[in-house]
Amino acid sequence: MKIGIIGCGGMGRTHYLSLKALSRHKDIAVTALADVREAYLERAAEHFPDAHTYGCGMELLQQESLDAVHICLPSYLHTKHALAAMEKGIHVLIEKPVCLMREEGEALLKKEQETGVKVMVGQVLRSFREYEYLKQVYDDGQYGKLQSIVMQRISGDVLWGYEDWFHDEEKSGSVVMDLHVHDVDFLRYMLGEPDRFEVKATAFATGMINQILTSYEFGDVVAMVEGVWNVSSQTPFQASFRANFEKAVLWYNGSETPSLAVYKDDGTLEHPELESEYDASDLSGEMNISNLGPYYEEIKYFTECVAEDRPVRRAPLSEGVKSVDLALRELNAAKEYILNRKK
Ligand SMILES: NC(=O)c1ccc[n+]([C@@H]2O[C@H](COP(=O)([O-])OP(=O)(O)OC[C@H]3O[C@@H](n4cnc5c(N)ncnc54)[C@H](O)[C@@H]3O)[C@@H](O)[C@H]2O)c1
Repeated sequence: MKIGIIGCGGMGRTHYLSLKALSRHKDIAVTALADVREAYLERAAEHFPDAHTYGCGMELLQQESLDAVHICLPSYLHTKHALAAMEKGIHVLIEKPVCLMREEGEALLKKEQETGVKVMVGQVLRSFREYEYLKQVYDDGQYGKLQSIVMQRISGDVLWGYEDWFHDEEKSGSVVMDLHVHDVDFLRYMLGEPDRFEVKATAFATGMINQILTSYEFGDVVAMVEGVWNVSSQTPFQASFRANFEKAVLWYNGSETPSLAVYKDDGTLEHPELESEYDASDLSGEMNISNLGPYYEEIKYFTECVAEDRPVRRAPLSEGVKSVDLALRELNAAKEYILNRKK
């Protein structure tokens, strides 16, 4: 299977290192790479000396015949490249958020239907072992009903982006579309659409939202989620959840080992054994992704869907678009909240 990667920055690196590891077990090859920044392109090409290299993603799509392409571009460039790839009949794995506007989502869904290509969105929590375990416990009811869940995604200020695109709301959609969308997507995956939500927020001095605190009601389940880009880039990254079931508390902290604990109502504590095919960290880049495993799992799933001509069920385009839709509604509510506080 011939695979191209467009965008070899922070996430592109995560994708190509995962693909390199996967190519030891699967019949896949990265045959084309694109990045406008030469240094990043060269750094990627060191891993794939036979790959064709391009200084522009659209040119790669015009020139290459590929089975699949991974779009790891700044979010405002996703739609244009995904539409062009689909036009050529290339299957697409696209980073989250799949797009930044509802109209883009509609155009992508229309093109997917017209072309019949497979599209998966990099909503990677759906491939995290700990989050999968949580969903499994929720689905099988082994600890009774879920009563509440509190999730956090805490990041330092994001300084590594190409031309500082993260700090331009038109290009990133702020922390809400970029970071918070992970938890939004997972909640939707597990619980469906919320009946209602309420948002509180803070903003950077520039006015762009940098912290969102949303409370939701999903039927009987209440949820609270925080997503923040702290003003200091030095703040350590931390993701966590605490899910209160009738008979146990599942407590995950991605910065701890073991990361997942189950505190049962009989007073016992268990750390579930969660198997992983691939565990490796990449601290050489700017992003501090401490474990490539979930990305490897996500990419492996997508390549299997393509190779075996199976439908993408784990994070299909339609789901990515619905998560963007909810996150957009939350972003609008966050902006309204800030405006009203100023009055
Ligand atoms: N799934 C996750 O956990 C996760 C984590 C971080 C970022 N992301 C997402 O991944 C995407 C990329 O984020 P990033 O952190 O890698 O950003 P980045 O700025 O580090 O990387 C983007 C790369 O695209 C290149 N680029 C820009 N325009 C181009 C063009 N026209 N053609 C070819 N290359 C071009 C840039 O030079 C840069 O190297 C974003 O959508 C982001 O939200 C996902």
